[in-house]
Amino acid sequence: MNDKLMQLLGWVDARFPLTKMWKEHLSEYYAPKNFNFWYFFGSLALLVLVIQIVSGILLTMSYKPDGVLAFGSVEYIMRDVDWGWLIRYMHSTGASAFFAVVYLHMFRGLMYGSYKAPRELIWIFGCLIYLALMAEAFFGYLLPWGQMSYWGAQVIVNLFATVPFVGTELAEWIRGDYVVSDATLNRFFAFHVIALPLVLVGLVAAHIIALHEVGSNNPDGVEIKKNKGPDGKPLDGIPFHPYYTVKDIVGVIGFLIIFCAILFFAPEMGGFFIEHPNFEPANPLKTPEHIAPVWYFTPFYAMLRAVPSIAGSAFPGVVVMGAATIILFFLPWLDRSPVKSIRYRGLCYKVLLALFVVDFILLGYLGVKPATPILTLIAQIGTIYYFAFFFLLAIIPKFEKTKPVPERVTG
Ligand code: HEM
Repeated sequence: MNDKLMQLLGWVDARFPLTKMWKEHLSEYYAPKNFNFWYFFGSLALLVLVIQIVSGILLTMSYKPDGVLAFGSVEYIMRDVDWGWLIRYMHSTGASAFFAVVYLHMFRGLMYGSYKAPRELIWIFGCLIYLALMAEAFFGYLLPWGQMSYWGAQVIVNLFATVPFVGTELAEWIRGDYVVSDATLNRFFAFHVIALPLVLVGLVAAHIIALHEVGSNNPDGVEIKKNKGPDGKPLDGIPFHPYYTVKDIVGVIGFLIIFCAILFFAPEMGGFFIEHPNFEPANPLKTPEHIAPVWYFTPFYAMLRAVPSIAGSAFPGVVVMGAATIILFFLPWLDRSPVKSIRYRGLCYKVLLALFVVDFILLGYLGVKPATPILTLIAQIGTIYYFAFFFLLAIIPKFEKTKPVPERVTG
C-alpha cells in the first residue's frame, strides 16, 4: 500500500477500529482447515440477503402499495420499467433461493452437531432468523395482489381467528379490516420493506458475532481451539482471509450459475416459485379452486391439515404447526449425544436423520396436493415422525454405538 493510503488508514484507525475488525473477523479469524462444500451455505445466505435487499429497493421504486394499483404496478414493472422483469424475477427467485440455501445450511448444522455446546446461541439466533424469514416471505407474498396472494393471506390470517376467546378480534387486528383489504396491504408492505429487513439484518449480525466468539465447528466436530501452537493459534486453523474468502467464491459461482439458469429459463418454476393464480388480480368474490402456499411453507401446511379439528376448530392444527418450528429452538438440549459429527455417530442416528429429510420432503409434497383421506393419513404419520425425531435424539445416545472422535481434524 502506498504511503498516502497508509496514512489515511492510520487516520481512520485512530478513530474507528477498521484494521482491528478486519483482523478479528477475516485475516486473523482462524477457521478449521477441513471445511467442505456444506460450509458454503452460510456465505451464500448472506449473498442472497444482499440480492433481496438490493432488488427489493429497486422494486419499491415502481411498486404501489394500494389495493387498486398494486397488481397493475407489478405488471408495469414487468413490461415497461427498464430491466424491471429481471429485478422482479431476481426478487421472486431470490425468495425461493433463500429458503433452499437456509434449509441446506440448517441440514449441515444437523449433520455436524453444530448446535451443540458451545454453539447453542448461534443456533438460537439461526432459528429466530428462520422465523423472521418466514414472516418476511409471507408479508411479501401479499404485495403483488394476485389471487394467491390474496387468498393465501386470507387463509393464514384466519388461522389466528382459531385462537380461543380472542381469535376473531386478533385476526381483525392483524388485517385492520374484516377481510384482507387495502389496509392489510399497506401494513404488510410496511413490515415487508422495513420492519422485518431490519430485524433480519440485526439477527444475522448477532448470528455471526456469536459464531466468531466461539469459532466454527467443522465436519469432524473437533474443537480446534483445544490444540493451539506456541504462537497461540489453533494448529488445525487457517485464516479465513484469504483461504475461505477465495474458497467461498467457488460456492458463489456455482450458486450464481444455478440461480441465473432458473432466473432466465424457469423463473416461475412451473408454478412452484410463482403460483399460476397469481397472474390474475386479487378478487375477494372468487376463491381459487385450490389454495396452497409456496413450496417452502408446504411441510408445515401439510402438518396443519393433518391434525383433525376439534369441535370444528382448526386450532389444534395451528398449535402443531407452531410447535414444529418452536421445537427447533430446543434441539441443543434435546440431542444428548456427546459426539457432534455424523461421521462418528452410530448407524441409528444416520438412519433417523435420513428419514427426517425424506419425511420433510414428503410433507412438503403433500402440502401442495389437495387433501384426500389417504394423503391425510400419510401426512399424519409424517407429522408424528417429525416430532418423534427430536425426542428420539434424546433417547438414542443411551444405546448408540459411536466411533472414537479423533483429537485433531482429519484431512
Ligand atoms: C439469513 C440467514 C442466515 C445467514 C446469512 C447465516 C449466515 C451464517 C454464516 C456466514 C455462517 C458461517 C459460515 C458457515 O458455517 O456456513 C453461519 C454458521 C452457522 N449458522 Fe447460519 N445463517 C443463516 C441462517 C441460519 C439458520 C436458519 C440456522 C439454524 C436454525 C443457522 C445455524 C448456523 C449454525 C449452527 C452455524 C455454525 C456452523 C458451524 O460452525 O458448523 N443459520 N451462518
